[in-house]
Amino acid sequence: MVKYIKIAETKDIPPNTMQVFKLKEIEILVVNVEGKYYAFENRCPHLGYPLYYGNLNGEVLICGFHSAKFNVKTGESLGAVTQESLKVFRTTIRNSSLLIEQDS
Ligand code: FES
Repeated sequence: MVKYIKIAETKDIPPNTMQVFKLKEIEILVVNVEGKYYAFENRCPHLGYPLYYGNLNGEVLICGFHSAKFNVKTGESLGAVTQESLKVFRTTIRNSSLLIEQDS
């Protein structure tokens, strides 16, 4: 069964920006690319540093520490720094709320 947990209002994440929200003990990075929302654990799979200090270049998220690149739409690694993908959370919008889907 899927649970939906509200973590933000969509207005809090303007297009082409990213924000961090807490869900229990997990920091979740939400990225808005042209009005679509993508959510990941705020932890780079290379050495574990926060992705929030990185940059967005269109659909590419670039870690601010050693420049690992990830496809925002899939979470997949795009370069040689790490082969590991981001931990992806599925998102849904209901009214103006951004919800994270969690299997229970
Ligand atoms: S911690 Fe992100 S690239 Fe090294």
